[in-house]
Amino acid sequence: MITKMSAPCAASMKEAAQLINQGEVVAFPTETVYGLGADATNEEAVKKIFIAKGRPGDNPLIVHITSVDQIQTVIRGEMPVWAKKLADAYWPGPLTMIFDKGDRIPSCVTAGLDSVAVRIPSHKDARNLIDAAQKPIAAPSANLSGRPSPTTARHVFDDMNGRIPMIIDGGESDVGLESTVLDVRSLPVKVLRPGGITPKMIADIVGEVEVAGSVMRPLKEGETVLSPGMKYKHYAPEGSLVIVKGNQKKVAEAILNMYDATEGEKCILALEGNLKNYPGKNVFSLGKDPKEMAHRLFDALREMDARGVSAIFSEAVDAEGIGLAVMNRLGRAAAFHIVDAGE
Ligand code: TXA
Ligand code: MG
Repeated sequence: MITKMSAPCAASMKEAAQLINQGEVVAFPTETVYGLGADATNEEAVKKIFIAKGRPGDNPLIVHITSVDQIQTVIRGEMPVWAKKLADAYWPGPLTMIFDKGDRIPSCVTAGLDSVAVRIPSHKDARNLIDAAQKPIAAPSANLSGRPSPTTARHVFDDMNGRIPMIIDGGESDVGLESTVLDVRSLPVKVLRPGGITPKMIADIVGEVEVAGSVMRPLKEGETVLSPGMKYKHYAPEGSLVIVKGNQKKVAEAILNMYDATEGEKCILALEGNLKNYPGKNVFSLGKDPKEMAHRLFDALREMDARGVSAIFSEAVDAEGIGLAVMNRLGRAAAFHIVDAGE
């Protein structure tokens, strides 16, 4: 199959919407990461997503719509009042909420669960595509299963060339990490995957918020997963990755020691302001703060693979605000290999 990459003009959006309505899969930009979309009401189309990604069938997809009025076609019953408040505050945007599943959504979308994940994206191309197709669109991140999520059309092409007919190129994703996944079926609401909408931003609206324990550690043997995606190895670069946390001076010392003791192609991932701590070494900037780090992280991990790096040493950031999502993704990429250099 030829994979066509198109800028988001009126003609290409029309073509993409037609492909969706013919039961095909199209990659499109969102404010978080690129998505791999199909008509969420068409079982055969949804199955093609799982095949294109090599995704295990027990990992459910997020359904994307453009307005709260459309949610009744996706969920069963009314939205709880607290979910309405969250929707008012953060939709459209990088928040996914989990509800009881409606009958129009085939069970392959939700991997047989009786719940469904719903998101209203803010990215104009994503919205135009959903509106043009006039269908709810099921879409996981547009990477091959296990690879870092794509934040540019080029990343999507690298993973999906020959597997899907079309990629809409809308430039770099703004947030750079996938949406916050929040179970809102009962109180307190529970963060299953941290993202751009932070626990504090959620608590500001609904008072209390829980964060699933598995967010900052590997799953325990036999632990039941609330969000099936959490159990898979994710975002992993091909090289080994070690994260070092603690006081900045000690972190730099520990990283330099490990770096010097390692053979082969190696690279240090550091915040812009700390690059000076690693003179003469192979370093890659993660940007000036946790927000920029979120924006750049997946690109950095893909870049490490492209450069054939076999050992990566990364600075940590505080797991607060957007830093929680950054450390969740970085931690999982490193299989939670985190060294504490001390305070
Ligand atoms: O930002 C995003 O969320 C992107 C863009 C394209 O919207 N999508 C995305 O999808 O990251 P995906 O499939 O890569 O991640 C969806 C996550 C997975 O961890 C999945 O297990 C979880 O959401 N999920 C989906 N439906 C669920 C459900 N009914 N209950 C619990 N977790 C669910
Ligand atoms: Mg994904």
